Amino acid sequence: MTPLLSVRGLRAGYGGIPVLFQVDLEVGEGEIVALLGANGAGKTTTLRALSGMIPLMAGSVSLGAETVSGLPAQRLARLGIVHIPEGRGVFPSLEVDETLRLAAAMAGVPRRAVAGTVDEMYATFPSLAMRRGQAARHLSGGEQQMLALARGLIHRPRLLMIDEMSQGLAPTVVDALFALVATLPARGTSLLLVEQFVSRALALASRAYVLEKGEVGYAGSAAALAADESFVRGSYLGDAGTPAGMGGSRG
Ligand SMILES: Nc1ncnc2c1ncn2[C@@H]1O[C@H](COP(=O)(O)OP(=O)(O)OP(=O)(O)O)[C@@H](O)[C@H]1O
Ligand SMILES: [Mg+2]
Repeated sequence: MTPLLSVRGLRAGYGGIPVLFQVDLEVGEGEIVALLGANGAGKTTTLRALSGMIPLMAGSVSLGAETVSGLPAQRLARLGIVHIPEGRGVFPSLEVDETLRLAAAMAGVPRRAVAGTVDEMYATFPSLAMRRGQAARHLSGGEQQMLALARGLIHRPRLLMIDEMSQGLAPTVVDALFALVATLPARGTSLLLVEQFVSRALALASRAYVLEKGEVGYAGSAAALAADESFVRGSYLGDAGTPAGMGGSRG
């Protein structure tokens, strides 16, 4: 496995107080990696630190051969690290087409190439094409998630980090989104997935990390973790776990 993202000794937090301690993590080229853990374990904070939304308190991050620690979010996005936040973060009043054209501009797509780039996203997400003139707030939850994905994919990311993609969505919509995400490594985008839907994430990922109170409690094969009944049943996640969202134990 050629490493794409390498994180060593990451410490990050809020207001000078760390919530992540000594986190080591890797994502290989073309790999899908799941980042799991109980509520409050530090999953979102990890993605925020890696995408430059919050500063690193210690540690190093590299993308390919390049050290990218401490670069601002916009630079990191241009280099290929893109984060789709929990709750999707779409602007409610912007139309689908405006959202995607704005994303293309932010990604540095030359003006004459914007329409073509946006059309590529409509080819990937045909239901967005049908709603191009609608404000994001009028989209369904699944469509908003597609819009958030399309906006991220416009950057042609080398690493796409998605926080709670399936949150609040119907199972058929989740199926469609997971099927799409599964095709991304073949298009040059590796994935770091934070998911409450543990069984789905483990089915897609080759490796997984489990955060426990800001430290890596497990790093290894996703299949081995999926075979660990106590983990999948949720007891591993402790009282703060979310067995209702786990899905896997019920198939
Ligand atoms: N903006 C913030 N300011 C201060 N503390 C925060 C902030 N965001 C998160 N925290 C704290 O950092 C810790 C890790 O939170 P984080 O959101 O990274 O967890 P998580 O694993 O994503 O949880 P969840 O599964 O609930 O999304 C928690 O103790 C949380 O209260
Ligand atoms: Mg979170």
